Amino acid sequence: MSHIFSCGECGRRYPIDEIRYRCDCGAPLEIVSEGPIHVSRNTFDARLGVRQLPYASGVWRFREMLPPLDDAHIVSRPEGNTNLYSVGADEAGGFRRIGEYAGLPSLHVKHEGENPTASFKDRGMTVGVSQAVALGASAVACASTGNTSASLASYAAQAGIPCFVFVPEGKIASGKLAQTLAYGAVTLQIKGDFDAAMKLVQEVCARLNIYLLNSVNPFRIEGQKTIAFELLQQMDWEPPDWIALPAGNLGNTAALGKALLEARELGLISKLPRLAPIQATGANPFYQSYATSFTERFSVQADTVATAIKIGNPVSYERARKAVRETGGVVAEVSDSAILEAKAVIDRAGIGCEPASAASIAGARLLVESGVIKPTGRVVAILTGHILKDTETTVNYHMGDGLYANHPHVVEAQFDEVSAALEKYL
Ligand code: F0G
Repeated sequence: MSHIFSCGECGRRYPIDEIRYRCDCGAPLEIVSEGPIHVSRNTFDARLGVRQLPYASGVWRFREMLPPLDDAHIVSRPEGNTNLYSVGADEAGGFRRIGEYAGLPSLHVKHEGENPTASFKDRGMTVGVSQAVALGASAVACASTGNTSASLASYAAQAGIPCFVFVPEGKIASGKLAQTLAYGAVTLQIKGDFDAAMKLVQEVCARLNIYLLNSVNPFRIEGQKTIAFELLQQMDWEPPDWIALPAGNLGNTAALGKALLEARELGLISKLPRLAPIQATGANPFYQSYATSFTERFSVQADTVATAIKIGNPVSYERARKAVRETGGVVAEVSDSAILEAKAVIDRAGIGCEPASAASIAGARLLVESGVIKPTGRVVAILTGHILKDTETTVNYHMGDGLYANHPHVVEAQFDEVSAALEKYL
């Protein structure tokens, strides 16, 4: 079975073993299978108990849905196998806070922060770095708001390939910078924003013959598709009505859309969930395009507390537009204060996530309030990153006067003072 690069815009096709990310027309490419794929739910369900690689990975378990790679080239931690928490308002226990907040009796969150480097990026990276190994790449690179760089640095270290990352100076959360430095990536702090770093890394990769591992690379998208396959499998292949997710560079929106369309085509599901990519108001170019029914493409000077999605000119625009259109999706925007409030609720339930991830719950709540998502709808929200990625923002929130702020008590080291502080809670 062979695969090719295909352009969703103009239909041009290219061999998959070429080093290429975009079509000659400029649009990012997609990987498609030229022959029929023979799989059933059983193919994937039968692998659930397997402890050996590659099937122990929540990415490689869905191998037939991925481009072909030899076992010898696979670089896997392994990744995936993240929890799908039932957090609807109908649940017992503290998780139900999230469903109550969103106004949804049936709600799940899929926690992609439970991946090896604590974000969803590991799913695309295992496929992208495996392809780098297959190609014999001498070095790999990416631009990043922090999670992609942490993930690439880790997988490149495992593969033994030099890694260069371009991050906007002073604008990524310290947990992510710490990971990137610690995993040994050569780290360039660019004096500019993510969009400037993204533009630069594409030029540098082309001119210095370095393999580019941003999500413009179609192999990354292929790995990220497995978020959808895994959540469908965890729901016994009964698809939810909606999947809400934070949206920045739009790779994940593109990947989930592609996955859902493929799952339906192969008969793994009979109904398509609708996608709801959620942007921050200060970084909302995709929302603005959606508001014009995609007749116009926008770019903005991005600004949001959710630094992971502080992106003004998303690379995967075309592929994400297709994902929204073909799943009957909607795009929404939420304010920074809505993101921080939703994050506090997710954290307080005992689950926790980084700020950008909370856009999914803030967005679901907004779409329920505005009547787009029916309260009877079955919704899955993707939490893309771990609570410990951005501790500054969390601590700042709890020191401030937000609705759910949990101020620490400073007391002398004496029983009486401690007792007085605890009195009102006992
Ligand atoms: N959530 C988190 C935690 C992210 O790190 C990102 C993107 C997104 C959501 C948005 O996903 O770009 O596929 O639309 N982070 C990239 C990075 C840009 O460099 O780590 P997207």
